Amino acid sequence: MKAAILHAPGGLERIEIVERDRPEPAAHEILVQVHASSLNYHDYVVAIGGIPTEDQRVLMSDGAGEVVAIGDDVTQFAVGDRVISTFFPNWVDGPISLAKRAGTPGDRGPGMAAQFVAGAENAFTHAPAGYSHVQAATLPCAALTAWRALMVEARIKPGDTVLVLGSGGVSIFALQFARVAGAKVIATTSSQSKADRLTELGAEHVVNYAEDPKWGKTVKQLTGGRGVDAVVEIGGPDTLGQSIAACRMGGHISLIGVLTGVKGEVPTAAFFYANLTMTGISVGSRCQQQDMVRAIEASGIVPVVDSEFELADLAEAFAYQKAQKHFGKICLTL
Ligand SMILES: NC(=O)c1ccc[n+]([C@@H]2O[C@H](COP(=O)([O-])OP(=O)(O)OC[C@H]3O[C@@H](n4cnc5c(N)ncnc54)[C@H](OP(=O)(O)O)[C@@H]3O)[C@@H](O)[C@H]2O)c1
Repeated sequence: MKAAILHAPGGLERIEIVERDRPEPAAHEILVQVHASSLNYHDYVVAIGGIPTEDQRVLMSDGAGEVVAIGDDVTQFAVGDRVISTFFPNWVDGPISLAKRAGTPGDRGPGMAAQFVAGAENAFTHAPAGYSHVQAATLPCAALTAWRALMVEARIKPGDTVLVLGSGGVSIFALQFARVAGAKVIATTSSQSKADRLTELGAEHVVNYAEDPKWGKTVKQLTGGRGVDAVVEIGGPDTLGQSIAACRMGGHISLIGVLTGVKGEVPTAAFFYANLTMTGISVGSRCQQQDMVRAIEASGIVPVVDSEFELADLAEAFAYQKAQKHFGKICLTL
C-alpha cells in the first residue's frame, strides 16, 4: 500500500510517497481502507518540522474510509461501515488528561496518509450517513474543535451572536454549527470574495480585519454595543485583544489557534473588566465526536470543501494551504 511519510527533521521537500506493508488488525482493532484525509494547520506544522516527530512518520491526523476487516473482539463496527478517525485515539470521554492526549495520528502516532490503517475501534467513530469519504475526512480535527468550542464550552443558544475569525476550516464549521443552533454569526476575513461567500453561508456581518485594525470595536458596534456572546479564537496573540474587545460582558472565548504566533500581550484589564471566561481547546473527545456526527445527520450540514489533492501531491497541497487562498477545507484523496 502507499503512504506519505516525513523524513526528519521535516520540510515539505522531505515528504515522500512510499510502499508499506498492509497492516493486520489485532483483536480489538479495525482495518480501515482510508479513502480521504483533510489538511489541518497542525498537519502543516508537523510537515515543516515545527512539531518534531519520529523519522518516517506517516503524516495526517484526519482520515475517512471503510472498514475492510475487524479483529475478533470488535463490537462496534462491521465490515463495510464508513468511519472517521479521532484526533485523540485515547480520549474516549470525560476530561482530558496527559494520557488521553497521547498518540495523535500523524504526530505522536502513525498518521492517516496511508491506504490502510489498523487501529483500536475506540479510535474511530461512524461517519455521518450520506457523507462522501472526502466530506467525512473534514471532520475529526476542524469540525470537532468548532463543535466543542460552541456547543460544549460556550454552550451557545438560539439568539446568541458568535464571532468567527477568517475563513479556514475551523471557522467555517463554527459558522455552520452556530447557524443551525439558531445563533447569529459575525465573521472576519481579509478578502472581499471570501466575505461574499461567508455571507452566503449565513454570516450576518463580515468585517475585513486587514483593512480595519480595530475590528473588535467594529464587531461590538455591529451588535448594537452589546458585544458577542462567544468567540472562536483561531488567531492567537495578534487577534486576542480584538476578540476581547468584541465580547459582551460575561462573554466566552474559545482559545484555539496560533495563526499569528504563540506569544504576545494580553489586555488583562479589559478581560477582567468584562468578566470574560476563556477556555483553551484541544480538539475534543470521541464521545463529543459522536454527538457532533448525530447533530450533522440531524441538521444536514454539508462541509465546505475548497479543493482535493491526490496523495502524491501532498507537498503541493501544504504549499496551497500555507498561501491561505482556500475557503473551508483542503482534502486529500488516497
Ligand atoms: N486547539 C485546537 O484544538 C485546534 C484545532 C484545530 C485548529 N487549531 C488551530 O486553529 C487555527 C486555524 O486552523 P484551521 O485548520 O482552520 O486553519 P486554516 O484552514 O489554515 O485557516 C486559514 C485561515 O485563517 C484566517 N486567518 C489567518 N490569519 C488570520 C488573522 N490574523 N485573523 C483572522 N483570520 C486569520 C485566514 O482567513 P481569510 O483568508 O478569510 O482571511 C486563512 O485563510 C490554526 O492555528 C490551528 O493550528 C487548533
